[in-house]
Amino acid sequence: MKQWIALATLAAVSAGAYAQAFPGNKPVAIVVPFAAGGPTDRVARDLAEAMRKQIPGSNFVVENTVGAGGTIGANRVAKAAPDGHTLLLFHIGMAATPALYRKLSYKPLEDFEYLGMVNDVPMTLVGKPQLPANTYRDFENYIRANAGKLNIAHAGLGSASHICGLLWQTNLQSKEAMTTIPFGGTGPAMTALIGGQVDMMCDQTTSTTAQIEGGRIKAFAVTTAKPLSNHPVLKHYPSLQEMGMKNFNLTIWHGLYAPKGTPPAVTKMLNDALKKVLKDSEFVKKNENLGALVVTDNRTDPAEHKKFVAAEMLKIKAAVDAAGKYAD
Ligand code: MLT
Repeated sequence: MKQWIALATLAAVSAGAYAQAFPGNKPVAIVVPFAAGGPTDRVARDLAEAMRKQIPGSNFVVENTVGAGGTIGANRVAKAAPDGHTLLLFHIGMAATPALYRKLSYKPLEDFEYLGMVNDVPMTLVGKPQLPANTYRDFENYIRANAGKLNIAHAGLGSASHICGLLWQTNLQSKEAMTTIPFGGTGPAMTALIGGQVDMMCDQTTSTTAQIEGGRIKAFAVTTAKPLSNHPVLKHYPSLQEMGMKNFNLTIWHGLYAPKGTPPAVTKMLNDALKKVLKDSEFVKKNENLGALVVTDNRTDPAEHKKFVAAEMLKIKAAVDAAGKYAD
């Protein structure tokens, strides 16, 4: 019996010692499963800066691991050493990709420790600057007049931009489907849009707000149920619901994850720091300036975060199975 107590004590001490030592002088990588310059990357860089403030001496960095709608990056973290030095920032794709990729190389609910949710980000329907339309109605009429000739960019099957584009086109009931052009993220897609190489895209306000304000792209609508009437730039655009798309209401949630088996003392430290970040006025303001809202409800608790993702997975799987279209 004494041996067990000694072992248990040793384990507790070593876990506590590990947590005290964490993160030490080794960087903490926040893996973004999309290319640099996109909305997920934007949130991750602001999060890394804010987390550094909450854990003195820490060095949170962002690493982009691209491909397959974010599943390559998610798999990297699922298989990473569970030491707290490799985290994942992933959005609705965490729940959408298991429905689309039937041979997914990881299990979203079993292979990760859930560290809490970060923010909810609206999306915008945007077009290249040369598009001959200035209102949403013009935009729709132009699409109908050019059925089968236009293309829409996204960040890979299962990405937020892909999901939004699918939902919107289903509601549009356009005669012919548009050509879809995948990118490693909506960062590079935005460059192509600004350059006129692609016609349109549905992308998150964390990426589009600055481009709209700078007049480098055209905006036509937002995907939230109601217009973003409090935002100085985004308030000028109607919601798709106002434009007749009943029940269209899409915002992109983002969550933070670590590999399964990361020590509880470390996951608690990371979740505690995240909760303080979500109350950090500078981080909150950065989100608001880009049309995003930090999470203030119980989804910041790991257990509630996991419950939320599990429910989203069921919802999205039902829709994907009904459509019968898969990524693999
Ligand atoms: C998405 O479309 O899923 C994201 O916007 C991709 C990205 O962050 O680049």
